[in-house]
Amino acid sequence: MTQALLAENLRKKYGRGDTAVTALDNVTISMDTGEVVALLGPSGAGKSTLLTALGLIRPPDSGRIVIDGKVIFDNGYRTDIRAFRRANLGFVFQKANLLPFLTARENVQLPMELDDVSNGKSRRRAMELLAQFGMEDRQSFKPSELSGGQQQRVAIARALANSPKLLFADEPTAALDSVMGRKVMEMMKRVAHDFQTSVLVVTHDTRALDVFDRILHMEDGRIREQ
Ligand SMILES: Nc1ncnc2c1ncn2[C@@H]1O[C@H](COP(=O)(O)OP(=O)(O)OP(=O)(O)O)[C@@H](O)[C@H]1O
Ligand SMILES: [Mg+2]
Repeated sequence: MTQALLAENLRKKYGRGDTAVTALDNVTISMDTGEVVALLGPSGAGKSTLLTALGLIRPPDSGRIVIDGKVIFDNGYRTDIRAFRRANLGFVFQKANLLPFLTARENVQLPMELDDVSNGKSRRRAMELLAQFGMEDRQSFKPSELSGGQQQRVAIARALANSPKLLFADEPTAALDSVMGRKVMEMMKRVAHDFQTSVLVVTHDTRALDVFDRILHMEDGRIREQ
């Protein structure tokens, strides 16, 4: 197996002085290609901070991040992340955050259009992805005409549109009932294995943990394997 992600000795503090909070306390994490990993831990443990640090949405203070063999962060140094992020990383959040005036298919097409993929090609790929998630008959629906679970499936399809190396999902099933939550996790796993995308999912939903290849636990800014 090849390594999709290696992050070493990540540190991040919010604030300074007496009120400073150490959100990441020397975190080291690695992921293999195609691996689906759960990240558990109590509120305030640093899970969201870790996800946004790994994607350089909010870079860490120090440490080193290597994605697909490329050093994207090394203490002071950081690569031009925007193009890299669009080509290599996908994000899914608790809320689907779809654009309300676009259809499901157009929402999935959007990141490909930003990457100058031709319309015909992006259209075909969007339809293919939506079909993978059982949404082929909903592709011309607007977000407001979709259920929460359906919107989340569109959001995951959109995150996978550019075939990212890594997908980071922060409580993607928190707004769903347990049946739909499980379904979404299972679909994410299948797609990850099919597309060789590595998936890191922050979740409080312990009912779907059997879906994951590996489970990590985070507490007080530190990570430990279970
Ligand atoms: N923007 C911020 N400014 C200051 N402190 C922050 C900020 N974001 C997070 N923190 C602090 O960092 C710590 C980790 O927060 P984080 O959001 O990463 O936790 P979490 O594990 O995602 O929690 P939850 O399960 O509640 O989402 C917390 O103590 C929090 O108060
Ligand atoms: Mg969080």
